[in-house]
Amino acid sequence: GYDVSKLLATTGKVALDIGFVNTAACTSAVTYIDGDAGILRYRGYPIDQLAASSSFVEVSYLLIYGELPTAQQLAEFDQSIRYHTLLHEDLKQFFKGFPRDAHPMPVLSSAVSALSTFYQDSLDPFDQRQVEISTLRLLAKLPTIAAYAYKKSVGQPFIYPDNSLGLTENFLRMTFATPAEPYEQDPELVKALDMLFVLHADHEQNCSTSTVRLVGSSHANLFASVSAGINALFGPLHGGANQSVLTMLESIQREGGDIASFVERVKNKEPGVKLMGFGHRVYKNYDPRAAIVKQTADSVLDKLGGNSELLDLARQLEEVALTDDYFIQRKLYPNVDFYTGLIYRAMGFPTRMFTVLFALGRLPGWIAQWREMIADPQTKIGRPRQLYTGATERPYVAIDAR
Ligand code: ACO
Repeated sequence: GYDVSKLLATTGKVALDIGFVNTAACTSAVTYIDGDAGILRYRGYPIDQLAASSSFVEVSYLLIYGELPTAQQLAEFDQSIRYHTLLHEDLKQFFKGFPRDAHPMPVLSSAVSALSTFYQDSLDPFDQRQVEISTLRLLAKLPTIAAYAYKKSVGQPFIYPDNSLGLTENFLRMTFATPAEPYEQDPELVKALDMLFVLHADHEQNCSTSTVRLVGSSHANLFASVSAGINALFGPLHGGANQSVLTMLESIQREGGDIASFVERVKNKEPGVKLMGFGHRVYKNYDPRAAIVKQTADSVLDKLGGNSELLDLARQLEEVALTDDYFIQRKLYPNVDFYTGLIYRAMGFPTRMFTVLFALGRLPGWIAQWREMIADPQTKIGRPRQLYTGATERPYVAIDAR
């Protein structure tokens, strides 16, 4: 209902870029993406090489400190994370206040926000020692918080961290062990989940990372900024997509597995019907992470005998979409989330935990980007402009005259 070019003409030097399609809000040396070529690199290292050879803790170090660690640096970093895994006992009480059917994402963001109240000695963004401690605390405590959110939802007692275990093993144990039954670690599955965390660890200025930066640009502390990022990730167009993909596949299956008619509904743009797990703002080619996830889905589902019908459905859906003009013209390819849900489900995670797993993976990226922003002397508080489209000046009307 308004003429953008007229508005621009009257506002002067303001660029209108809804959704920041072309506007860079910062410079960054953390992650490189070439969306047309399907390339993703962390600090210059190709994602496929990191997925094949590195670990999540090593990649966290790489993202945050800019270089691959030496063996000694990695051992020290790993040890420091293990040291901080426990939650304050009073923070544990916090989980009891939520309804049992609460979605674990807002539980996660609330608990992370609450870290600001429990760890007041590490909130100053300009004190390097405090930034280091809050970095370690977050990396160490988020898996514990995530596992507690899960335990709360299934009504089981919390399992304390066991610091003889690495980050991913510890998280799996805290999630799936009970006081009655230990959790048997399967090294292949630990490796697969660790690798999925690596694939999610950073993705430059996506919605949640931009949120972390925007909130942090007001000099809000790291816990507050990351809590905001978790809420941004919760949305179904972002991290919530991995949950939506599985819901979509299950509903297609329930309705008899008719892929062609589902794709027709997508193409007709029926309200609320999208091919979830497809499309990306930056990738106009196959998401390099999706290719790796697809292979992992094959091997994990082979091993665990997960729902192979859903995997078949996903494969057929991909095949149909990749040969259909609607998707070809719009350069819509599977993104990282298209196959992850199937793996998480086979590992035993309920659908509601999928986005929590994304948050665990994305954490080092949020921290690295927040630290880069705080250390950058060019940083200013984020404050977008607008083009005003409301009423021009009008006199106040008394209530009895309306
Ligand atoms: N299914 C059907 N059509 C789609 C889809 C999709 N998944 N994605 C985009 N389109 C269509 C749009 O309707 C639009 O069509 P039009 O030109 O006829 O109007 C065109 O493709 C361009 O799409 P935009 O919405 O303008 O692209 P944008 O960059 O704004 O959105 C997004 C990117 C949000 C990822 C979108 O592709 C989407 O909603 N995908 C499904 C949700 C999803 O999988 N999100 C995960 C993203 S990755 C991540 O966070 C890990």
